[in-house]
Amino acid sequence: MVEENMRRKLIVGNWKMHGSTDQISQLLEEIESGSERLLEDIEICVCPTYLHLGLAFDLLASKSGAGRGQIKLGAQNVHVEPAGAFTGEVSAQMLAEYGVSYVIVGHSERRQFFAESDQFIAEKFRAAQACRLTPILCVGESLDQRQDNETERVVLNQLDAVIAAAGIAAMKEAVIAYEPVWAIGTGETATPAQAQQVHRTLREHLDRLDSVIAKAIRIIYGGSVNAANAKELFSQPDVDGGLVGGASLEAEEFISICKSTD
Ligand code: PGA
Repeated sequence: MVEENMRRKLIVGNWKMHGSTDQISQLLEEIESGSERLLEDIEICVCPTYLHLGLAFDLLASKSGAGRGQIKLGAQNVHVEPAGAFTGEVSAQMLAEYGVSYVIVGHSERRQFFAESDQFIAEKFRAAQACRLTPILCVGESLDQRQDNETERVVLNQLDAVIAAAGIAAMKEAVIAYEPVWAIGTGETATPAQAQQVHRTLREHLDRLDSVIAKAIRIIYGGSVNAANAKELFSQPDVDGGLVGGASLEAEEFISICKSTD
């Protein structure tokens, strides 16, 4: 059984396709000043658009003092190839140059609107890791699937597709985000008990393959996380933080979510 929790909480802000250069600068500035003390205990990551990664990188670099914890940068996507004729795409190597630490792969918006398959997502996962970027693998069921009692089958299939391609050892340097599709951007959140149940299922599944990895891997929750519901979600034993969309675009709200980890 997987017990004992030594996992450092991780809060990721997914800014999706939002923000002007002015807004991004201000948001990051405010998150930086509000989260300084928190970085001793938790990890915080923000994911701007590709276009704003350079700006965010420069802003964070200009602020970093010796020995201080840093806000990490994440990308919202990555291409599977290292370089080539792939108009509009960005490789993991390019992201690494901008100080990116994390890459979101398998987000339901990419599965849904860009027809990304489990196989393609697994390739992205591997491409990210090949450049030492940590993939945040999103899994989650639709409302219909939940109502048909398919949640477990769906999330485990999504996870297994990556394990089949990358191997269980690859999960050592990865984060899983459980994001029920019906809770994303809808204002409807999984109850803490619903989230815990799925997180537990994912961890137990990993435990059957590698108990050390199962104990160490962070499984974060996403889907309408806000300052009011974060504390109870994050207090569940298998919920190791959050992937936050809408509420991460408001500095005060996001910081308050980050503070809900203790
Ligand atoms: P939300 O988005 O917090 O706006 O529901 C979460 C996500 O898509 O990662």
